[in-house]
Amino acid sequence: MKKNATQIIALVLIACVAFAFAGCGPKAEAPKASETPKQETTKASEPEKKETKLDAIKKAGKIVLGTSADYAPYEFHAMIGGKDTIVGFDIEIAKEIAKELGVKLEIQDIGFDGLLQALNADKVDFVMAGMTPNEERKKSVDFSNIYYYAKQGVMVRSEDKDKYKTISDLKGKKVGAQLTTIQEKIVKEQMPEAKLVSLTKIPDLVLELKNKKVEAIVVELPVANGYVKKNADLAVSDIKVEEDTGGSAAAVKKGNPELVEAINKVLDRLIKDGSVDRFVAEANEMNEVK
Ligand code: ARG
Repeated sequence: MKKNATQIIALVLIACVAFAFAGCGPKAEAPKASETPKQETTKASEPEKKETKLDAIKKAGKIVLGTSADYAPYEFHAMIGGKDTIVGFDIEIAKEIAKELGVKLEIQDIGFDGLLQALNADKVDFVMAGMTPNEERKKSVDFSNIYYYAKQGVMVRSEDKDKYKTISDLKGKKVGAQLTTIQEKIVKEQMPEAKLVSLTKIPDLVLELKNKKVEAIVVELPVANGYVKKNADLAVSDIKVEEDTGGSAAAVKKGNPELVEAINKVLDRLIKDGSVDRFVAEANEMNEVK
């Protein structure tokens, strides 16, 4: 009995070793192949032909977009045919970029404050999230050309529209902005006497405004307009803030000029042929439903 078991184990071990060798076979032969002239040509051209991120994307057959889908009409969740779908004009542009590269678009919905980190950790290939290419961000990532310009809006409750007309009316009041956005910076720098409330998601900020936990929210005007259209209790105030950079651009990890160039080519075309304007109008329409 005992002897039998030992024999079986020995046989199994032999089989495993044989299998492992068989598995190694092709790999083990590979270096030998490099001795042939055919391989030498590949070897010689290797130093100049390092695989770029763009090559890798094409090889993978997909490009991964990082976005923060809390920002209608830029990117937001909508029910399409009974299915929760991420839509918006940034998404339409991203689809065109994927199409141009001949790959599938995969979308990762990440909080706005985690986007650049995800990009630099190679979790996503590019970011489109109504992101403004400011100097601070340019230190850590590269940007495409700007594809859309928007002004800043200050949203308040309709009942307070006459109460809050200038920045000084917000003295000592709580003013909301999305975490790590330029709007947060605007509150800090242009409303130093207001109390900044930073939250990760825009819908949460809007809820705080409705529930009188904050008195105003600084947000891009197209976003404010969308909420105002759907919520009679919300209004865009007369308060004006100064603009510096403005505009949205796609972000790419530093050192990938080929990808930036490919994105810029698509953006150029979509801006020139009016597609971006059409995508914005369509996204606004979708946002109005519900
Ligand atoms: N444009 C602003 C910024 O870059 C806000 C963008 C917020 N985007 C979003 N998808 N929530 O800081």
